Amino acid sequence: MMSDIAKQIQDLGRGYDVALREEVELFASLGLSDIRDRLERDWEQACEEDKEEGCLEFQASRDMRGGEIFFVPDIRRYKRVFDLIPPGCAILDVGAGDLRFSIALAARAHHVYAIEINPTILGRALSVIGYDLPSNVTAICGDAFALPVPADVDTVVCIMIHRCHDFPDAWSTRRIVHAEHDGVHVMEPQP
Ligand SMILES: C[S@@+](CC[C@H](N)C(=O)[O-])C[C@H]1O[C@@H](n2cnc3c(N)ncnc32)[C@H](O)[C@@H]1O
Repeated sequence: MMSDIAKQIQDLGRGYDVALREEVELFASLGLSDIRDRLERDWEQACEEDKEEGCLEFQASRDMRGGEIFFVPDIRRYKRVFDLIPPGCAILDVGAGDLRFSIALAARAHHVYAIEINPTILGRALSVIGYDLPSNVTAICGDAFALPVPADVDTVVCIMIHRCHDFPDAWSTRRIVHAEHDGVHVMEPQP
């Protein structure tokens, strides 16, 4: 008989397999498999290089807590969030990481402002994506919780389950699609 721990690991693994298949299918359906695969390979390489020390110093120098600085693509949330995005909207993608999901969102949105605080993650991503960066993606290196929201943004996407910050007031007039430990939630805009 399977122990509880073995069962939990098997369930986690099964959940990840499903998410991975969904991610691969989503990017294939958008014609973005090549960019996604390049970014995935580079992310695996970055994990091996292990720059945790510098990363934590950088986090300490900014207003970040917990593990907010760490980039792990949260592929479990992509499909659900993508399906909640109205075509033609203007998105602020908060904590955009290596931009892979921003680029997927850009296939449906009018424009995506992808904001990522970690310059090494964003710098690597831009160099891997190169001239394949879609014209409707604007990559910004900065603190999404401190910078003003571009005027045309009607939708904020926040896939940052390790977030320690509350949402700024400036976001409340936009639809917020956000990932939490228990899944994806939507906050409708306040008048
Ligand atoms: C868990 S990762 C998720 C990345 C991406 N949303 C995805 O799922 O592929 C969270 C990202 O948010 C970034 N981040 C943390 N605090 C931030 C802030 N204040 N402004 C912008 N980005 C931030 C981190 O550097 C990290 O890359």
